[in-house]
Amino acid sequence: MKEKIENLRKIKSEALLGGGEEKIRNQHSKGKLTARERIELLVDEGSFDEVDMLVKHRSSDFGLDKQKIPGDGVVTGFARIHGKPVALFSQDFTVFGGSLSEAHAEKICKIQDMALKIGIPVIGLNDSGGARIQEGVVSLGGYAEIFLRNTLSSGVIPQISAVLGPCAGGAVYSPAITDFIFMVDKTSQMFVTGPNVVKTVTHEEVTFEELGGAETHAVKSGVAHFKFESEVELLSAIRRLITFIPLNWKDRGIEKEFDFTQDLIVKELDAIIPLQSNKPYNMHDIIEKIVDDNDFMEVHKYYAENIIVGFARIGGISVGVVANQPAVLAGVLDINASVKGARFIRFCDSFNIPLLVIEDVPGFMPGTDQEWNGIIRHGAKLLFAFCEATVPKVTVITRKAYGGAYDVMNSKHIRGDFNFAWPSAEIAVMGPKGAVEIIFKKEISKSDNPELKIEEKLNEYIEKFANPFVAAERGYIDDVIEPNQTRLKLINAFQLLKTKVDKNPPKKHSNIPL
Ligand code: HXC
Repeated sequence: MKEKIENLRKIKSEALLGGGEEKIRNQHSKGKLTARERIELLVDEGSFDEVDMLVKHRSSDFGLDKQKIPGDGVVTGFARIHGKPVALFSQDFTVFGGSLSEAHAEKICKIQDMALKIGIPVIGLNDSGGARIQEGVVSLGGYAEIFLRNTLSSGVIPQISAVLGPCAGGAVYSPAITDFIFMVDKTSQMFVTGPNVVKTVTHEEVTFEELGGAETHAVKSGVAHFKFESEVELLSAIRRLITFIPLNWKDRGIEKEFDFTQDLIVKELDAIIPLQSNKPYNMHDIIEKIVDDNDFMEVHKYYAENIIVGFARIGGISVGVVANQPAVLAGVLDINASVKGARFIRFCDSFNIPLLVIEDVPGFMPGTDQEWNGIIRHGAKLLFAFCEATVPKVTVITRKAYGGAYDVMNSKHIRGDFNFAWPSAEIAVMGPKGAVEIIFKKEISKSDNPELKIEEKLNEYIEKFANPFVAAERGYIDDVIEPNQTRLKLINAFQLLKTKVDKNPPKKHSNIPL
């Protein structure tokens, strides 16, 4: 037995080297960690159980039969993060550039299947040149098998993707179907076709980084939800995300211990809203003062900054926050903000994460650019996502709730469970100026002093509508609260809603306006 054990150790130690020391040095020289180093940083110490370490590809074309490397370019297995079980795969760029062979795909599919049966998240650390070119259609088939599992797992178990190298072709579509994509500045890129193909087809000259770098996808395309300076920061952020989310869709209420005897009144909240209603303020100041330990994990931080989404805890309960940002484009809802919000809401609703909406929105963005690009279709996604969500849903209106945006942002009418407003709230069909110019058009034009008339009508309108009391009289607002009481009210609301049950009518699936 001793010899057999020695032999096993030798085989495994070879496998641990992946593509070999030179390729590992090369990987390090690009500022990248190896597949195994990444796993070590990601999971709880000593918790990784590898499977399929000895799998090899079965191809012989183009001399591949002479290059068989145990593991075949991907490390797969199971581990724990903050004590929670996860399944993971980590592609090894030192082996055929992390490209996906039939065997490589089978390894990923195996852990996807296991994760689905067990009900645990899958984390994919992607670093791959896409389909292994030498294997042809077999590797395309492998990708399709992964895409199918990504899709079937969607809404059942959380799926998290880190893109940690130049991911091309098929290597981008699997992450694209998953719930969250993490990227690193300068070393990770995602594109369907690389710069050379782009040049041939469209004659555009573009660098890897411009075409599909972290900055591009976190700021412009919205493909990436998170962007970091280094792999170490990125891996630690995945660990943090895991603390907010459940293992699977059946898990209810991710909760941490909470000391209910602490002071829950936050006086600073009384001084945030400016006196003038058209002055901006930073919604982050409110979020951070409302949530436990000022701990807010923002998702899509650099994309459509006029809406803020992310995870936090309120009274120990993990919640998804959706908030308008008056400091950017006055918090208006445009196409990108609508899509960003809708996608986040659907993640939260899939996984029983309650929603907290903090609202200060002047309405939907007007203009030909928005209309021609489909603000109707995209805005409808946000509306649909809020309407369909059955998780606990609580809204706080801090200032503006105008027009369609009032309805959309989790109003009472679309099943908001608790809808609170601050005394500074303005709830009406539109802002005072626009409203007065329309409904008093004739009166103003006939007046000897139009400016004075406008002023007079503005005051009348503001007094009548730019407040929360008309809505409160009808019960559309459950309570008008002092800002300093917000944290207390929210903690009580989410505690009460822990046992909430709500259902949508039976159906095959809904048809969200895509
Ligand atoms: C086989 C590959 C490979 C691939 C890279 N390698 N990509 N081997 N199949 N797809 C190998 C290289 O031959 C090289 O081997 C090693 O990996 C490292 O690659 P380099 O080119 O030296 O590295 P780098 O300069 O960093 O460039 C990385 C890269 C580039 C940008 C990923 O390799 C590249 O453009 N690869 C092809 C990308 C691509 O077009 N893939 C197919 C997409 S189609 P040696 O032995 O020299 O070290 C697709 C279909 C699915 O995926 C679509 C589903 C929707």
